[in-house]
Amino acid sequence: MILTRVFPEPGEPIDTDEGEARELLSGLYEPGAARWVRLNLITSVDGSAVGSDGTSESLSNRADRKILGVIRRHSQVVLVGASSVRAEGYQLPRTVPLAVVTSSGDLAGHRISPTLDPGRLIVLCPASAESTVRESLGELTARVVTVPDTDARLDATAIIDTLASLGFDRIVCEGGPALAAQLLDAGLVHELCLSTSPRIGGGSMRMLGDRAIAEKPLALHQLVVDDAGGVYARWFLGQR
Ligand SMILES: NC(=O)c1ccc[n+]([C@@H]2O[C@H](COP(=O)([O-])OP(=O)(O)OC[C@H]3O[C@@H](n4cnc5c(N)ncnc54)[C@H](OP(=O)(O)O)[C@@H]3O)[C@@H](O)[C@H]2O)c1
Repeated sequence: MILTRVFPEPGEPIDTDEGEARELLSGLYEPGAARWVRLNLITSVDGSAVGSDGTSESLSNRADRKILGVIRRHSQVVLVGASSVRAEGYQLPRTVPLAVVTSSGDLAGHRISPTLDPGRLIVLCPASAESTVRESLGELTARVVTVPDTDARLDATAIIDTLASLGFDRIVCEGGPALAAQLLDAGLVHELCLSTSPRIGGGSMRMLGDRAIAEKPLALHQLVVDDAGGVYARWFLGQR
C-alpha cells in the first residue's frame, strides 16, 4: 500500500512493502517530547471503535498496522485495557512490553502466547485482584504491579505515574475506548494518533465509549492518507 503525507506539507509516497518504509514512517512519527503519552486508535467514519466483527481488527488494514508498528517502536510500553485483551487477539509487541490494566484481575480469554520473559507482560491491578490475575493467566508469566485503588478502580494519573516509575516515559495506549477516555479526561494525553477507516456503519461502539469528556481543543500536527482511503491523523493536545 502507498502512504502519502498531505499535511503540513505534501510528502513523497511511501510504499509499505519497501524495506525503507519503516524508517521513512518513523521520521513522520517522532514523539513530541521525551515524556510523551499517545493514544493510538482507529475509528470508522461514523465514529465506531469496532467493525462488523465487534473488534477493531476489521477496521484496520496493512497501512494502519505498519503505522501501529512504527508508533510502538517509538514507545517504551504499550498500554491496553483488559477488555481489549479479552476481545482482541492481543500478543506481546515485538519491541516493547505490554501493560494491561484490570480491576477484576480476570484476564481469562486472553490469547497471549506464553513467554519466558516475565518483564514483557505487565499487569496493573488493585492489590485485591493480584491472585485472580495469576490464576487467570495460567502458565503465562507476568510482572504484576499493584496500584492504589478506590473500590478496585485505578486512578488514571496513578496508572501513568506507575508506568513512569517503572521507567516508561513514552507510552502508547491502544485502547480500548473506556481506558482511552479516562486518560484523555484526566489530561494525561499529549497526542491522539487516529486512523479513520474508509467505511460507515457495521459497528456501534463509540470511539471513546459512553463517558462524557470535557471539551478539549486539538491541533492537527500531521495528516497521512493511504491509497485505499484510510486517513491517519496526528492530533496534539495541551499537556498536564
Ligand atoms: N478502535 C480501536 O482503536 C480499539 C482499540 C482497542 C479496543 N477496541 C475495541 O474496544 C472494545 C474494548 O474496549 P472497552 O472500552 O470495552 O474496554 P477497555 O478499555 O479495553 O478495557 C476496559 C477494562 O479495562 C480495565 N480498566 C479500565 N480502566 C480501569 C481503571 N481505571 N482501573 C482498573 N481497571 C480498569 C477494566 O478491566 P476488568 O474488566 O478486568 O476489571 C475494564 O473493564 C473491544 O470491542 C475492542 O475490540 C477498539
